[in-house]
Amino acid sequence: MNGEVRFLPSGKTVKVLRGTTLLDAARLAGLSIRTRCGGKAACFMCKMTVSPESELLPISDNERRKLSGLEERHIRLACQARVGGCVSAEVPLDPLRAAVERQLARQAEEEGDKLW
Ligand code: FES
Repeated sequence: MNGEVRFLPSGKTVKVLRGTTLLDAARLAGLSIRTRCGGKAACFMCKMTVSPESELLPISDNERRKLSGLEERHIRLACQARVGGCVSAEVPLDPLRAAVERQLARQAEEEGDKLW
């Protein structure tokens, strides 16, 4: 093991072999990342924001082409980005869960108004 990935916001940390993809590291950490393309850099559902200090192996031409500039904002495809050392990555909120949480927050706000 010569790499370590810390996933946010959970703080789960996993030790992995150098060259492991962030997607595989997330799965090893027990995190669920939704994908449609099975890791072929086609669905963009695995986008993660990595900290600027993260030690990843050099980005491939394919990933760079797919991201078309997003990598400059530290956004990477988890299925393509490979661990080179210590990495900190933010796991995107599942879109369905995000929609449910927004709706629940809206309802709580509306019900809160009725109570007062
Ligand atoms: S899993 Fe589809 S782009 Fe990464």
